[in-house]
Amino acid sequence: MSLTERTADQTQRVTPAAFRRVLVVDDDPLHRELSRRALEREGLAVEVAESAEEALARLREQHFDAVVSDYKLPGMTGLELLQRLGRPPAAPPLVLVTALGDQRVAAEALKAGAQEYVVKDVPALGYLEMLPTLIQEAIRRSELLRENARLREQLQQSSPDGLLVGRSAAIRRVLALIEEVAPVDSTVLITGESGTGKELVARAIHRRSPRASGPFVVANCAALPESLLESELFGHEAGAFTGARAARKGRFERANGGTLFLDELGDIPPKAQVDLLRVLQEREFERVGGTQTIRVDVRIIAATNRDLQQLVREGKFREDLYYRVNVIPIHLPPLRERPEDIAPLAYHFLRRFARRFNKPIEGFTARAMEVLTAYAWPGNVRELENLIERVVVLCRADRIDVEDLPSHLWRKSKTMPLETVDNLELVEKLTIERVVRTSSTVAEAARRLGISRTTLYAKMRKYGLDTTLLKHSS
Ligand SMILES: Nc1ncnc2c1ncn2[C@@H]1O[C@H](COP(=O)(O)OP(=O)(O)OP(=O)(O)O)[C@@H](O)[C@H]1O
Ligand SMILES: [Mg+2]
Repeated sequence: MSLTERTADQTQRVTPAAFRRVLVVDDDPLHRELSRRALEREGLAVEVAESAEEALARLREQHFDAVVSDYKLPGMTGLELLQRLGRPPAAPPLVLVTALGDQRVAAEALKAGAQEYVVKDVPALGYLEMLPTLIQEAIRRSELLRENARLREQLQQSSPDGLLVGRSAAIRRVLALIEEVAPVDSTVLITGESGTGKELVARAIHRRSPRASGPFVVANCAALPESLLESELFGHEAGAFTGARAARKGRFERANGGTLFLDELGDIPPKAQVDLLRVLQEREFERVGGTQTIRVDVRIIAATNRDLQQLVREGKFREDLYYRVNVIPIHLPPLRERPEDIAPLAYHFLRRFARRFNKPIEGFTARAMEVLTAYAWPGNVRELENLIERVVVLCRADRIDVEDLPSHLWRKSKTMPLETVDNLELVEKLTIERVVRTSSTVAEAARRLGISRTTLYAKMRKYGLDTTLLKHSS
C-alpha cells in the first residue's frame, strides 16, 4: 500500500518579509546593537550572537533566513563560520562584514559562498544603511535557489515525496481508515495536535477518492475575521460590501466536484457555524449579497487541533454542527504517544533533505537516535521535519550525532542519564550547563566546577551556552 502525496511541499508557506529572521554575529556590543536596530527598522526579526561558535549553536536550534557576520571574531572567524555553514540553498545566505581595506578577505569570502560582503566603514557607519537591502536581496536569491532545488528534486523522483510514514499501530490504523473512507463521500473529521499530519491525511483521502481528478481546496476557518470568512467560503456578488467590486466565487464553489478541506474548524465563529450547518445539510447556499441559491457537489473533510466536544460543552461550538461533521472521526495521536514512528520519520526527512541539499549523510548514530526518540516533540512531525532540515544543513560528518542536535533536545531527554553518555565533551557540556543553571553567579559556578572564571566563560562560549542560564544573572 502506498499513500503518496505532495503535501509537504505544497503546504510550505512563504514567510512574509516582516517575519524573516536574521542572525547578527558580532563580538562588539555597540556594532551588534546598531546592526540590530538597522535591521529591525526594516521589519526583520533579529537575534544576535557574540561568536561564531554561539552562532552555530543557535543555527542548530532555530531557523534563520540569513546571517550577518563580522569577519573578526574571537575564536572562529566569520570566514570560517561561512566555510562551516556552506552556501545556499543548503545554508542560509551569509553577508560578511569586513574591516576597511581587507580586499583579500572579501575575495576569499565570495569564493567561499558569501552572498555579499560589506565594509565596516568606521566611524561613518554608512554600511548600516546598506545592510537591510543587501540582506533582503540575499534572502530572495537564496529562496529562488531553494525553489529550484525543490523542483529539480521533484523531477528526478520516480515516486512523489510525502508518503504517510510510520509503523505505529496508530498510523497503521489511520492508513487503514484512509483506505476505507476514501471511496465513500462521507464527511471526515480529523483531530490531532498541531503538526501531527492532519492536512497530509486529508490530501491522502482526496487522492485516493473518486474525486481525485477534481480540486482539493483548503479553507482555513481561523485565518480570517468573521465578515471576510463568510465571503471566502460562500463568495460574494458585486457590490455586496465596500470593496466588493466584482462577483467572486467562494471556496465551496471552487471545490465543486472535489474536496473542501475545512482547516481549524474549532476556531470558526458562531455566525459562520450557522451558515456551514446549512450547507452541510442541504449542500446549497447563497453568495454574500446574492439571492440565487447555488448547489455544489463537494466532499467535506474538516480538521481541528481543538477538543470539539469540550467546545460544545462550553457553548462555543454548535452541537448540531458537531454531529454533522463528526461522521467519520480520524484521530492522529501526538508523536510522543507513538515514539516508534520517530526513527522512520527521521530517516524519511533525512533522505529528503540530504538529497535536496546534496549532502552525503547516511544516518544517525545510535545515541542521536536515542535522543530523538526520547524527546517529547511538542510541535510533533512538523517540528521533527524542521529540525532534521536544520541539522542536515549544518552536519559535516556522514552520520548525525548527538552534538549535531540542538541542546534543548538532550537537555529535556530524561532517558539519557549521564552514565550512559560516553563522549567526554558532551559530559563536560552537560555538567557545565547543569551547574550554571543552578548557580547564582558565574563566580559561584566556576568555584563549583573547580575552574577559573575565564575558563568557564571560554567553555560556555565553546558549547554555545548563554550566561542568561544563570539562576540570577550576575
Ligand atoms: N506520517 C507522516 N509521514 C510523513 N510526513 C508527515 C507525517 N505526518 C506529518 N508529516 C509532515 O509534517 C508536516 C506537518 O503536517 P500537517 O501540515 O499535515 O500537520 P497538521 O496536523 O495539519 O498541522 P497544523 O495543525 O499545524 O496545521 C507536513 O510537512 C507533513 O508532510
Ligand atoms: Mg494543518
